[in-house]
Amino acid sequence: MSEALKREAAARAVAEITSGMKVGLGTGSTARHFVELLGERVAAGLDIVGVPTSEVTARQARECGIPLSDLDTLERLDITVDGADELDADLNLIKGGGGALLREKIVAAASGAMIVIADGSKVVDTLGRFPLPIEVNRFGLGATRRAIADIMAAHSAEGALKLREAAAGEAFQTDGGHLILDAFFGRISRPEALSAELLDIPGVVQHGLFLKMCRKAYVATPNGVETLLK
Ligand code: A5P
Repeated sequence: MSEALKREAAARAVAEITSGMKVGLGTGSTARHFVELLGERVAAGLDIVGVPTSEVTARQARECGIPLSDLDTLERLDITVDGADELDADLNLIKGGGGALLREKIVAAASGAMIVIADGSKVVDTLGRFPLPIEVNRFGLGATRRAIADIMAAHSAEGALKLREAAAGEAFQTDGGHLILDAFFGRISRPEALSAELLDIPGVVQHGLFLKMCRKAYVATPNGVETLLK
């Protein structure tokens, strides 16, 4: 989908930010538009503070002149604006395509509201077409992988479990120094159960299912920006 559509969705979210707000700044190509547009408003006098969800977003926000803080200092945020890899009609999400899911989830959970910005290609009937990113500790990778594969089989996963690579033969590393396993489910029919089962594996740090965290999404299509509410 085009950058223009992502930017339109981002613009709708930027319009909701008012002076005094503490704002979680998402990660990814759509969130990038949000940060850029927010930076323009800050340059024009908007008085906000941002908490980035990745090192990449922190760098961009600094370049855009957005004052930054962290959750040690602020503890609670008003709002987080972020992209998504998939969203369903209940506004349940898959995130983590860019590998930032852990910080994204921590920041969203500390926010009074989460707004997702996306283009129409991200809307699905059932989550799972996009491979579910699962952040895992390096220690015990083989055992963790085996435990996740068993859960995938129990959930009738259609595809494989793959260690994400940054380059051929080189494992991708998250900002927290962990690894990502991408789990190809095809469809996830029981997301709550899957979430709980994955989090029960000691080596799993976090996964990319964001359930009941988002109440509003701006979805841009060639016919305009649709507001989805939950
Ligand atoms: C980053 O880890 C992700 O959760 C992104 O928010 C998600 O992958 C959406 O990215 P795009 O806006 O680039 O599609």
